[in-house]
Amino acid sequence: MTSPETPGPGEGAARIPLPPLDGSPERLEVVSAWDGGTPYQLWRPQILRPATFRPAQPSQVFAVVNQKGGAGKTTSTVELAAAWAAAGLRVRVIDGDPQEAALSAWLTPQYPDSGERHSLRSVFFDECGLAEATYPTAFERIDIIPSSLDLARVEYERPIGAEQALAAALAEEAGQPGGSPYDVTLIDSAPSLGLVTVAVLTAADKALVPVKVGGLDMRGMASLHRTIRSVQRKTNPKLAVGAVLLTAWDKSDFARQLAVKVSEDYPEAPVIPIRRSVRAAEAPVASPPQPVRLWAPGAPPAIDYDTAASLLLDRKEVAS
Ligand SMILES: Nc1ncnc2c1ncn2[C@@H]1O[C@H](COP(=O)(O)OP(=O)(O)OP(=O)(O)O)[C@@H](O)[C@H]1O
Ligand SMILES: [Mg+2]
Repeated sequence: MTSPETPGPGEGAARIPLPPLDGSPERLEVVSAWDGGTPYQLWRPQILRPATFRPAQPSQVFAVVNQKGGAGKTTSTVELAAAWAAAGLRVRVIDGDPQEAALSAWLTPQYPDSGERHSLRSVFFDECGLAEATYPTAFERIDIIPSSLDLARVEYERPIGAEQALAAALAEEAGQPGGSPYDVTLIDSAPSLGLVTVAVLTAADKALVPVKVGGLDMRGMASLHRTIRSVQRKTNPKLAVGAVLLTAWDKSDFARQLAVKVSEDYPEAPVIPIRRSVRAAEAPVASPPQPVRLWAPGAPPAIDYDTAASLLLDRKEVAS
């Protein structure tokens, strides 16, 4: 485990590099059909990649959504961001959860020593554009638009055009000469299907849905499904479900049934188990907080998110 020194605040502070994973850790197998005949005790976690699946092109916007609390949204956002940054991509994360600003606390925005601090709320209230609300994090190649408690004001003050605010800001950025400065944007969301989450889905190319094995609530899954479908119909026809991440996966018949169920609900999406490890819970409260990938590079979730990251985004396209 590594305990890098915390960089000081302000521009020019040293940022912590995210190296590739050492060696060739044991990765999950990628299959195009489940082997339903294997007894569950012998069933190893596998990634299901539908034959129709194509990796995303840069500069894609991924929304990490599930209105159920504790599904693994923030962990998935941090680990995918870290895996892509380690692969050399320029990554921006956006914290769309006002509650505890967990993502912001985990990645530690490097605010300038003086001047006003913006957050995602400022973008919704037209106080600034995306670039002014973006700060470096403690980690190389990951920048952040942080959140704060007052993002909740969007829900009750409903500023004009809130549903479209983020989509419009991203479209404006993409339309500038040279396009977006980021290869990938990942938006963490709150455990709710409120206005901010709808705005996040409206801005995204792909929804990533973490589902915690053991914490499943079928009615909750159905209402998430309805929300995604109505965003597709009304505000964002290009939205697709990019992947379902089965977080804190462990070997049980229930985990296998869940994998089969979500692959039927989202036939277009890869179903990606992320194995359970206590390291995932330790990393955000380490001193300083850091991605699991850095805290425990050999831990199964670090390896599984690394595999997911290479499956989801076409890095060759990014490089060219
Ligand atoms: N692969 C894993 N193995 C073990 N624990 C995990 C794993 N992934 C996430 N967790 C733990 O599950 C808990 C919830 O994860 P996380 O905060 O990412 O969920 P969330 O969906 O963002 O929650 P919220 O809805 O409250 O924002 C955390 O304690 C986290 O450490
Ligand atoms: Mg969260």
